[in-house]
Amino acid sequence: MPKIPSNVRGARFTGWGTALGHKTVTNDDLTATLDTNDQWIRERTGIERRHVGGSTAELSTVSGAAALRMAGIEPASIDALVLSTTTPDRTVPATSATVQNNLGLRCGAFDVNAACSGFVYGLVAAHGLVALGAERILLIGTDTLARITDWTDRNTAVLFADGSGAAVIEATQGTGQLLGWDLDADGSLEDILYCEIGGNIQMDGKEVFRRAVRIMVDSAEKSMAHAGVTADDIALIVPHQANIRIISAACERLGVPMDRAAVVIQDTANTSSASIPLALFDAAEKGRLAPGDLVLLVGFGAGMTAASAILQWGGS
Ligand code: ACO
Repeated sequence: MPKIPSNVRGARFTGWGTALGHKTVTNDDLTATLDTNDQWIRERTGIERRHVGGSTAELSTVSGAAALRMAGIEPASIDALVLSTTTPDRTVPATSATVQNNLGLRCGAFDVNAACSGFVYGLVAAHGLVALGAERILLIGTDTLARITDWTDRNTAVLFADGSGAAVIEATQGTGQLLGWDLDADGSLEDILYCEIGGNIQMDGKEVFRRAVRIMVDSAEKSMAHAGVTADDIALIVPHQANIRIISAACERLGVPMDRAAVVIQDTANTSSASIPLALFDAAEKGRLAPGDLVLLVGFGAGMTAASAILQWGGS
């Protein structure tokens, strides 16, 4: 994996926004139609409630507009829209085209599909565009997994939900916020987690769990090595929010205490592309990040994909 050249044009977040599915569904609500219970879901996954409803374009438009407002920039000044989603509204065109029009952007727009690792894939792509001369990128991670979930299957229905997180990434002086990154995929594992077109998510939960911890740790270690930092330097780890037990096992193996982890899974469940930005911007809004802090983003998902990045909050 290449290291970031020292003379690269850097970038940093200047605004962000989030959105959740329209309707809140508690664990108790699910027991009306599923053979499950609140205690099992909390203990085995960490999830207490989730939010469902809305299209991918709709939620992306809400989070994207909020990010543009916070950055204080005109939509027409965005040079590219990168939308990470594994649940596009249509096969063609890309959902980013709809969002580009909804937000009044006048730029290129494309979707990235790397399942739950997608936001970090998009983040790396966005920094690459800045290195090539773009001034401002709008990066959005949105998934509406409720639409591809079989609500009669307790193995998956308790886990998935809808959400969106967006960030404006602007060129800056110096090397910017991205200090190291890693993107991985192992397509030989596609059978353990997939969804046919028009179908529902199929998952071998135990196998995904077992692989997830290993590939998250592996990817995070590569990013830290490329950035020249260790787990002791990490102020905040922002893992994909799939299962609290996966998060705590990965933190333990990395040597990062759980009180340095960003966790929102109790309120959001697994929102795939949205889960890392929802957790990151929740932590930022709670004042858990100071300028200069090192943040480790790390995700895994269907593919199986994995992705991680080391950010210096506020840029270097
Ligand atoms: N409610 C109550 N009982 C349940 C439920 C439920 N919702 N689901 C399963 N059970 C039962 C099982 O039937 C089993 O019963 P048995 O012992 O009588 O046979 C028991 O609970 C234990 O089941 P396990 O499957 O062993 O439970 P486990 O602890 O492995 O948890 C889970 C299952 C939550 C799915 C876990 O394996 C997991 O989180 N896996 C990873 C999933 C994941 O991260 N997927 C997303 C990937 S990201 C992406 O790309 C979308």
